[in-house]
Amino acid sequence: MKGIILAAGKGTRLYPITHSVCKPLLPVYDKPMIYYPISILLEMGITDILIIVPPDEQEQFEHLLGNGDSFGANITYTKQYERRGIADAFILGEDFIGEDRVCLALGDNIFFGSNLREKLMTAKNSKSGATVFGCYMDDPRPFGVVEFDGDGKVISIEEKPENPKSNYIVPGLYFYDNRVVEIAKTVKPSARGELEITSVNNAYLNMGELHIVPLDKDITWFDTGNSNTLLDAACAIRNYKDSTGTQIGCLEETAYKNGMITHEKLLSVAESIKMSDYGEYLMGFAMANR
Ligand code: G1P
Repeated sequence: MKGIILAAGKGTRLYPITHSVCKPLLPVYDKPMIYYPISILLEMGITDILIIVPPDEQEQFEHLLGNGDSFGANITYTKQYERRGIADAFILGEDFIGEDRVCLALGDNIFFGSNLREKLMTAKNSKSGATVFGCYMDDPRPFGVVEFDGDGKVISIEEKPENPKSNYIVPGLYFYDNRVVEIAKTVKPSARGELEITSVNNAYLNMGELHIVPLDKDITWFDTGNSNTLLDAACAIRNYKDSTGTQIGCLEETAYKNGMITHEKLLSVAESIKMSDYGEYLMGFAMANR
């Protein structure tokens, strides 16, 4: 399975912060936001990753992540010149996806929790159709919202409804079979002028091939698109680390645990950044796993 991270959003809801640095490169606690979706892909064993970046900022991403070699991934980049919406990722990524299945992660979505890995693998292993997650939100209006019939069967997904028909939203981590490329090409722009991911999901739903995996309350999810959620996510990640001793989104740790880098590589990365909190944690992990 291939992985795509959509990191091309300007982050206008975070102005003036994002005037000079694009949103996925902003810090969330002790690391750049984009580390979190990358680590989710690595956790599932997905190492072929395309990152879709804003037209003027590929260099900064390359400076940070390179070709992914230090965490066992093979990263390539492509630019999104126009804000055409999330489903555009499959059109831009057509050659990269090839004949494969694909997982799309939004660059500003962060997930963590004790049984997350099991949920991720369930979604990744569904062989055909589309698989998305369902999360309970007190205020679902800014998201894609699931509508159920009286028997709990999904009947539609609505994008940012004024009057949501449930509290279950679809967060930004999606799994598709290869038909997604052709489906994305048939999507018409919405009222806000974007190719909505919700339209892609509804197309699979209409074919009877959309699977929704509910995420339990012990899985924490953040869309870090505004200043409050950005701060809340950072605090929650620090608290998780303080209470469990485990870091969220540490690329080299995830890569080492999943057999993607050698201990030598792990140690050399840790050594090169040991002056930071992130590096100190990594060094501790490398020493404990000698
Ligand atoms: C997008 C999707 C929405 C989804 C959300 C998750 O919203 O359109 O369906 O629930 O991401 O973060 P946007 O970031 O465009 O507001």
